[in-house]
Amino acid sequence: MAAIPYDDRDGYIWMDGSFVPWRDTKVHVLTHALHYASSVFEGERAYGGKIFRSLDHSKRLHNSAKIMGFDIPFSVEELEKAKKEALEKSGLDSAYVRAVAWRGSEMMGVSAQNNTIHLAVAVWHWGDYFADKMKGIRLTHAEWRRPAPDTAPCHAKAAGLYMICTLSKHAAEKAGYQDALMLDYRGQIAEATGANIFFVRDGVLHTPTPDCFLNGLTRQTTIALAKARQIEVVERAIFPDELATFSECFITGSAAEITPVAEIGAHRFTPGHISLTLAEDYSNLCNGKLELAL
Ligand SMILES: Cc1ncc(COP(=O)(O)O)c(C=O)c1O
Repeated sequence: MAAIPYDDRDGYIWMDGSFVPWRDTKVHVLTHALHYASSVFEGERAYGGKIFRSLDHSKRLHNSAKIMGFDIPFSVEELEKAKKEALEKSGLDSAYVRAVAWRGSEMMGVSAQNNTIHLAVAVWHWGDYFADKMKGIRLTHAEWRRPAPDTAPCHAKAAGLYMICTLSKHAAEKAGYQDALMLDYRGQIAEATGANIFFVRDGVLHTPTPDCFLNGLTRQTTIALAKARQIEVVERAIFPDELATFSECFITGSAAEITPVAEIGAHRFTPGHISLTLAEDYSNLCNGKLELAL
């Protein structure tokens, strides 16, 4: 069955303060964000009618906008209310929540000092990010590298940074893989195209220090879950020549949740005890079956 295009669905999207019929939430073709990537967004999941770490996502959206040089004209509290209402109006219990803020159409050059800032929240059903994910996904190596912190605003969840992610993901899919491992500008392991990465060696978790890519909320949750189980977590620079020394690997993200990795290029990993335990803990936490101070 063909997927329903995202602009041709029933329901409502919250946009600039009110609910608008889904098909009518349009922007003009001369919108600054479309030409200059002046847009920031969040990807969140709701479980059992509650958005997981909703407030942290809303705060991050505001912070991403600040990094990009604009203020969202709705407070974090107003955004929280909009997301809650959008979820309720969708009638969905488990759902994906997309908040997006962008520069509008008043100025159409590199400079857009006075453009109106818009905000929208859409909610839809989105199953697993990867088909059959607990078997472990296959990653190839990306050609593109995460840029240095003085090359791009790497801690904002900003649309422009996804240019190299889409290129890498498309190349991976074309080659028969599900995703790609991106290195950073120094040649260190960074992350996948839309998720952070963890490795296991001798019962210890190793994950790259997020100094030039998003320190994902799922990454932070995973570290807290591991610590609650007395699993040692080491955040450090990890180079590709270490891949052969790891027994397990998984990626983390709001969309991907905790997804085991079976393969990165020539290297093989087994979705083992630590990956599966943390994936289960994460699922229990999101579904309110486990308590954890975050
Ligand atoms: C490039 C990238 N890195 C990491 C993440 C993980 O972030 P989070 O766990 O906050 O969803 C995401 C997903 O939002 C992402 O797009």
